[in-house]
Amino acid sequence: MKIAVLKERRAGEMRVAASPEVVGKLIALGFSLAVEKGAGAGASYADEAYKQAGADVVSDLSKTLKGADIVLKVQAPDAPELSKMSKGTILVASLNALTDGAGIQALAKAGITGFAMELMPRITRAQSMDILSSQSNLAGYKAVLDAAAEYGRAFPMMMTAAGTVAPAKAFIMGVGVAGLQAIATAKRLGAIVTATDVRPATKEQVESLGGKFLVVDPEMEKDAQTAGGYAKEMPPEYFEKQKTVVAEHIKKQDIVITTALIPGRPAPVLVTKEMVASMPAGSVIIDLAVEAGGNVEGAKLGEVVTSANGVKIVGHANVPARLAESASALFGRNMLNFLTPQVDKEKGGLNIDWEDETITGTLVTRDGKIVHPRLLDAQTKPAAKKKAAAKTTKKKKAPAKAGKTADKPKEK
Ligand code: NAI
Repeated sequence: MKIAVLKERRAGEMRVAASPEVVGKLIALGFSLAVEKGAGAGASYADEAYKQAGADVVSDLSKTLKGADIVLKVQAPDAPELSKMSKGTILVASLNALTDGAGIQALAKAGITGFAMELMPRITRAQSMDILSSQSNLAGYKAVLDAAAEYGRAFPMMMTAAGTVAPAKAFIMGVGVAGLQAIATAKRLGAIVTATDVRPATKEQVESLGGKFLVVDPEMEKDAQTAGGYAKEMPPEYFEKQKTVVAEHIKKQDIVITTALIPGRPAPVLVTKEMVASMPAGSVIIDLAVEAGGNVEGAKLGEVVTSANGVKIVGHANVPARLAESASALFGRNMLNFLTPQVDKEKGGLNIDWEDETITGTLVTRDGKIVHPRLLDAQTKPAAKKKAAAKTTKKKKAPAKAGKTADKPKEK
């Protein structure tokens, strides 16, 4: 069975879906590997390293994809890439499946068996396959380094002959994988760290890393987590309260790093314009959620913006790609760990267990159709809403009948 590893073509994408180490391991599992020339260049992996690992380094896209049964990518394929993949090809990548409806439709139409790695279920067995986790970890670390680079003062307290430098105060909003790594990194650099999250389970984690937890509303936070371990969308009253508590805290902070995400939804706004205006000049805010709409008012994707009062708001796109080598090494291992249990040890190649949770959780398209329950739900919900809206309009148009039905209790 042939696996193709493609060069990433999206602007700013420096990562590659498999490192030479991973390529070597896939070959040891019995696959043949074609790596597109220059695929690893952005991550400092030379073509030579792939050759030494046993791969064919192929000069162009069409030849790399020719006869490929499996394609490994970081980002979803663009139209030219997709047009060169044959029907039935297995694609494993980060597909933004919950937000890129058109992209998923295109995969289905092309007959691709698509696995969206970002949908990996959060079960213990799948931790080693979780690209969100591996990439967020690095993003949390890099966010602190980016903040330190933009900040005109030192992070640690420094007692020198010329006087003392006070330690920086860093506030981390959202304590998932990225937030936890940001706390640990800021602590290592010597900052005084506080953090907040809607999920109360994070309080203990913050404290275990030496940070202080900022509680917003313990009652509402009791019900803030889904069974899958993600944050739920919080009610408006929570945001009102969060605003008051955070507003008071943020005006004393030098560094703010926001990481709050709700899967498949726009990121919640946690730092308002007024909060930015209340911060000291020279402070730095890093918005790691900027690609999902942003946690910070005024953040711009791919830009460093300075507010009127001298606060820098950093909105780097694709932060994991800013650490392309480490990010690719971990992304590749996630891929390897995902494929390995599906390998037929006797005959070689894949023998996919279609009932396995890691497969059903990530499979988005097969045999020309969209098959993932969450995507099918998203397709039917708007239609159901339209139907309901149409019913209401009908009722409004027929006042006599509407009068009769209006007082009826709602059917469930
Ligand atoms: P995420 O990237 O979806 O969100 C980041 C953080 O923002 C979360 O902690 C979330 O609670 C928080 N947040 C959302 N809305 C907020 C708001 N309005 N105000 C403040 N904070 C808000 O989360 P991530 O990093 O993917 O992790 C979520 C959980 O899943 C963690 O407990 C993590 O340890 C767990 N996990 C489990 C895995 C497994 O078992 N295989 C793998 C990876 C993570």
